Amino acid sequence: MTETIHKGKIFADTSSLEEIAEIKALLGYLDGVTTNPSNFVKTLMDGTERVYDQDELLELYKKRIQEIRSILPTGSISVEVYADHKTSAEEMIVQAEEMNTWIEGAHIKLPTIPAGLVAAKELVGKGMNVNLTLVFTEQQAAAVYVATIGARRGQVYISPFIGRLDDTGMRGLDLVKNLVQLYQKGDSHVEILAASIRTGTQLAAAISAGADIVTSYPAAIKEWVGLSSSDLQSKTEDGLKSIPYEDTPLHQSFSVYNISHPLVDSGLKRFADDWRGLIKS
Ligand code: G3P
Repeated sequence: MTETIHKGKIFADTSSLEEIAEIKALLGYLDGVTTNPSNFVKTLMDGTERVYDQDELLELYKKRIQEIRSILPTGSISVEVYADHKTSAEEMIVQAEEMNTWIEGAHIKLPTIPAGLVAAKELVGKGMNVNLTLVFTEQQAAAVYVATIGARRGQVYISPFIGRLDDTGMRGLDLVKNLVQLYQKGDSHVEILAASIRTGTQLAAAISAGADIVTSYPAAIKEWVGLSSSDLQSKTEDGLKSIPYEDTPLHQSFSVYNISHPLVDSGLKRFADDWRGLIKS
């Protein structure tokens, strides 16, 4: 690995204790972990098709987050609220306040939809940490910035999903570059946490693009560790369509931004379906 790729913080995008311990040992450090409903329920699937009560599943999530904290005593740990388009800001706040008691300093993951922004504003005002997820546009990023003005650095993360944009033929990495440029206009209270990163080269590229933090799957982190300088310098045509930078104001009311995107809808549905899939009907 080269010196330059040590600039960004590295988080593991998993709820697996074994994977977290393995990556921490491999790197000799680990700056944080991002859990979500999908990667958590995956760790419970043992081929028995067992289902749970809602409270039981939540209790298991709490236990897992506390176990992760014991592996990572000081790193950031993201804990995601259950949300779909019908979930109100108040319901997200209630969940967030409960999750915030599970461990010290959790980053509460909220979807970047109108209710999620209202919840973020309220939670940040109470001193809690947040991670605004499912981000696919500059408009969402501008709205996150405005909704969390006044937060200290480290309190607010924003998670642009690189791989899911790539899946649609758009270059997700361009969104990271655009958010870096956008946030240069303001203070630095929002940190860019590049997510949905599936390969080592994507991980390296996200750090080079200026992401403050990169979260990735253990397999991609292992691949990144094995990359040579020449691997990192070699450029291959990705065939993806560029996402142009559009100068977006950072001083409007956050409700004015157009933050809808089809990938937000499908992403919300995927997280909700994965969570509900393990609940007794
Ligand atoms: O942290 C969010 C990330 O896990 C989503 O990744 O591969 O499902 O797009 P992916």
